[in-house]
Amino acid sequence: MKKRIIWAIGLLLALFIFYSCGKRQEVPPPEAESKEKVQPKWVIGMSQCNLGEPWRVQMNHDLKKAAEKYPEIKVILKDAQNNSLKQRAQIEEYINADVDLIIVSPKEAAPLTPPVAASYERGIPVIVLDRKVLGDKYTCFIGADNKKIGQAAGNWIVERLNGKGKVVELKGLMTSTPGQDRHTGFREGIKGSGIEIIFEADMKWLEPDARREMESALARFDGIDLVYAHNDPGAHGAYLAARAAGREKDIIFVGIDALPHEGQIYVKQGILAASFEYPTGGKEAIQIALDILKGKKVPKEITLASRVFTKENIDRDGEWLEKNQMRGGIL
Ligand code: FRU
Repeated sequence: MKKRIIWAIGLLLALFIFYSCGKRQEVPPPEAESKEKVQPKWVIGMSQCNLGEPWRVQMNHDLKKAAEKYPEIKVILKDAQNNSLKQRAQIEEYINADVDLIIVSPKEAAPLTPPVAASYERGIPVIVLDRKVLGDKYTCFIGADNKKIGQAAGNWIVERLNGKGKVVELKGLMTSTPGQDRHTGFREGIKGSGIEIIFEADMKWLEPDARREMESALARFDGIDLVYAHNDPGAHGAYLAARAAGREKDIIFVGIDALPHEGQIYVKQGILAASFEYPTGGKEAIQIALDILKGKKVPKEITLASRVFTKENIDRDGEWLEKNQMRGGIL
């Protein structure tokens, strides 16, 4: 009996020693080794002119989503809060930090030209996205052709109004190139028709400003056939003003951007008769950035394709403005 007890104690002791030794020698969990992070090789600094509009939020989302696939790059995103001075400072900060590449979607052309040129001259490549700067001191511009979009909108409106009618034009910020191009393109598109522009104002791309301007137009004119706004928030602001005045059913509204969750929905709801697509170029900017960083030669200008969305074609994913354009990609 005594012997058995000694045996049992001995066994328990052996088990205890074996268990504690085993613990000390525990192998680290496999993930602890594999979690070693790939260090990014390149830093990209991006300055977004504002994040107050859905289109800009979408651009940043497109940039981030595309960048996630490449562990060799790290993208820093800054919001200039619709302030050109702030945006200038952001680019200067990126230059001082000696980032490998800068992407900028500038608020206005003139104030952003010097810092973009400074970066380019210093040898830091700069991709200018959606709105242009002046001159040619940048590495690559990516955006859709705003003149063509304006012209297509003009042609579409002439057809829709059977060649004549009274139109309100709500312009995007006229110190930015898309505002200028969507205006001149549109005027070319309606040239020679019986379309009369009875009211025009700069709503600076902003829905509340568009609404206010439209209130003035409604107060001054009884007969308004159509509103051409340089973006969908502008067209929607005009619609809200007309609805508040009980006149939304008498007026046709046309906008630009055609985001799936904004302009395309307005078309489906019958608020907008047409919206012209303005792709963000976020994905393309990352692809081109990688090409530049790898030392490949890239084109100076990359033009993105655009579609028009109407009630008739929205279920077919819109219609391309030019048939020979590479769909949704780089020309
Ligand atoms: C957003 C936005 C878009 C427009 C683009 C033009 O800031 O106003 O609605 O299409 O900028 O640069």
